[in-house]
Amino acid sequence: MQIAIDGPASAGKSTVAKIIANKLAYIYVDTGAMYRACTVIAKQNQLAFSDEAGILAAIDHDGIELKSEAGQQKVYVAGQDVTKEIRTPSISANVSEVSALPGVRKKMVSLQRQMAGSMDIVMDGRDIGTTVLPRAEIKIFLVATARARAERRVLDLKTQGIKSTKTVTEIEADIAARDYKDSHRLVSPLQKATDAIEIDTTDLSIDEVVEIILEKITAAQKKLVKKS
Ligand code: DC
Repeated sequence: MQIAIDGPASAGKSTVAKIIANKLAYIYVDTGAMYRACTVIAKQNQLAFSDEAGILAAIDHDGIELKSEAGQQKVYVAGQDVTKEIRTPSISANVSEVSALPGVRKKMVSLQRQMAGSMDIVMDGRDIGTTVLPRAEIKIFLVATARARAERRVLDLKTQGIKSTKTVTEIEADIAARDYKDSHRLVSPLQKATDAIEIDTTDLSIDEVVEIILEKITAAQKKLVKKS
């Protein structure tokens, strides 16, 4: 079974996707981490974030690896652990520009489809249900107000030991700007698939969101068993 979880930044996608993948013993792929790794590659190679050809060549040269270590997803670029760096404000501020480059998207989508293969998988991102895995049995679209997402981001940064110099209101504005860019880019913009289930997580706990999604999965599994 393929489970696609899409939605805007900080809507709770990766937290929820990780828990569901663990519970079901499915593989988990955080596709946002891949675009963030591309942004780290651009920065480390001192390339402009709009330099598509340069970034594509640097991705081929440096390589991006996602590894599961002691139950944690780690991201490596050129053999170096960049798991922490991909979440820093400077990468967050530039990832929309890099992820809008058509060649970068083509490369990442192809890698993501290879990873999914015919495995049981939970993949989260922006275009999983619409583009990467259009035949996923379960498609979830998580939303929440920009304020709620900014508050979550502040907590996330604190937990990761990253100091933010910005106020919640400034982070809220950054999130709104990133939503706009992600939703208005030409190639596979952030969009709810027509067959996706939308869940507003603003007033829901993580456990409540997980429970709703697990119910949908159980119902889909029953349908599949009936069909076969
Ligand atoms: O989920 P995230 O905030 O880590 O994602 C980082 C950026 O990557 C986000 O601004 C949009 C982009 N992204 C994308 O374009 N397509 C995906 N499937 C996942 C993320």
